[in-house]
Amino acid sequence: MSRIAVVPGSFDPVTLGHLDVIERAAGLFDELHVLVVHNPAKTALLPIAQRVSLIQEAVVEASMPGNITVTSWSVGLLVDYCTDVGASVLVKGIRSQVDVAYETPMAIVNRNLAGVETIFLLPDPAHAHVSSSLVRQVAGLGGDVSPYVPRVVSAFLQSND
Ligand code: PNS
Repeated sequence: MSRIAVVPGSFDPVTLGHLDVIERAAGLFDELHVLVVHNPAKTALLPIAQRVSLIQEAVVEASMPGNITVTSWSVGLLVDYCTDVGASVLVKGIRSQVDVAYETPMAIVNRNLAGVETIFLLPDPAHAHVSSSLVRQVAGLGGDVSPYVPRVVSAFLQSND
């Protein structure tokens, strides 16, 4: 039986930290679904479809394995998507104790709702300080985000200045 995992998130926009987690998770499972989900607690920069395209392009640009699918979900619980595609595991990156505190309740709720387990990967320390919210802020004020995001993302953000 195929082991299918999902890396969910806002990815607004995808960062090098996200890509690091995606690549390592893809090496651990037969199929990896990168799932862009709207987070109502956050003010969005990019439309969902744009985020999906940028992740797809970044995955190709980084020559990642072919077992990665990028898509979005907007019609219910994250675990409903997992059930639909037969995924039993969620993968998240943990940069700090702040992430642990943020992710722990979601992991418990997702397990209670549908028996979906969450595993946490530690990012490469080079990306430990990188977040989409920081990228949004720096890009919004005209700063250079190229050290923090895939080339396709910095090119896209620059062309939309
Ligand atoms: O990148 P983010 O914004 O931290 O990702 C959070 C996200 C989108 C994974 C989370 O908000 C989520 O799972 N939303 C889907 C709705 C849901 O299933 N909520 C209940 C379980 S937490």
